[in-house]
Amino acid sequence: MDLLHVSRELQAHADALRAAGRRIALVPTLGALHAGHRALVAAARRHADCVIVSIFVNPTQFNAAADLEAYPRCLEEDLAVCREAGVDLVFAPEAEALYGPGYQTFVEVEELQQPLCGASRPGHFRGVATVVAKLLLAAKPHVAVFGEKDFQQLALVRRLVRDLGFDVQIVGVPTVREADGLALSSRNVHLTPQTRRQARVLVEALDEAEAAVRGGERGRDVLLALVQRVLGKAPDARVDYVALRDPESLAQAPPQLETPTLLALAVHFPRRGSAGETVRLIDNRVLPLARAQEEAP
Ligand code: PAF
Repeated sequence: MDLLHVSRELQAHADALRAAGRRIALVPTLGALHAGHRALVAAARRHADCVIVSIFVNPTQFNAAADLEAYPRCLEEDLAVCREAGVDLVFAPEAEALYGPGYQTFVEVEELQQPLCGASRPGHFRGVATVVAKLLLAAKPHVAVFGEKDFQQLALVRRLVRDLGFDVQIVGVPTVREADGLALSSRNVHLTPQTRRQARVLVEALDEAEAAVRGGERGRDVLLALVQRVLGKAPDARVDYVALRDPESLAQAPPQLETPTLLALAVHFPRRGSAGETVRLIDNRVLPLARAQEEAP
């Protein structure tokens, strides 16, 4: 497995791969790799014969300095995970090299960056869009793979690629979950045993909302109230947002749902070993409503 730290070297490597007729897939990550990332690598392998993983704790997407500081950095362990997963090349740049002196160019996906996680984390998606654009320019992939757990990020990357004309296919990979349904996240380690048990309410809320829709419920506010009720069963949970949105535009769902609708949740729990700080967990599901043409005979 190759390891590169400099964008220009990665570009030269990608040019050589392309010249040799190889198909490149990129899996961008912040490191602290877990089974969710392994699923992204496996998906990348299905689409390409050369898999590149980037490992970069991108400072521009952290709106709180403490959050950036606390983010786990474990390159040696991550490299071992990549080696075991059959990754061909890891790109692990230094922040100072990616954002050199005088750096001032940023990418903004103006509307999709605003709601949901964008409202709670101002500037977050500007940092994500910028680094994703830089990674696509460096790795020159045919395919780039992202998790559906970060649904808003995936929607924003699809828009970015379309708007800026990147010649790359964006592939979304379903969320990998623990045995009880909790979505895998590098943040889960910050839960106490007690809040870890409570965190199950996120997937329970998604399940109950889906069951209600399958049972014929279409009322947006009824579904939102149902989700809030389920989340309320966790005494330490503080809801950041519960939202029903169009899966592509992220526009508010109408009062009566008619088409597949994104249910997105973000919930804070107290952070282990730190008074006052929280762990913010997100999850989502596209509720299965038939589109009008699918219902036609
Ligand atoms: O989802 C992530 O891990 C990050 O936001 C990404 C896409 C690697 C950009 O830094």
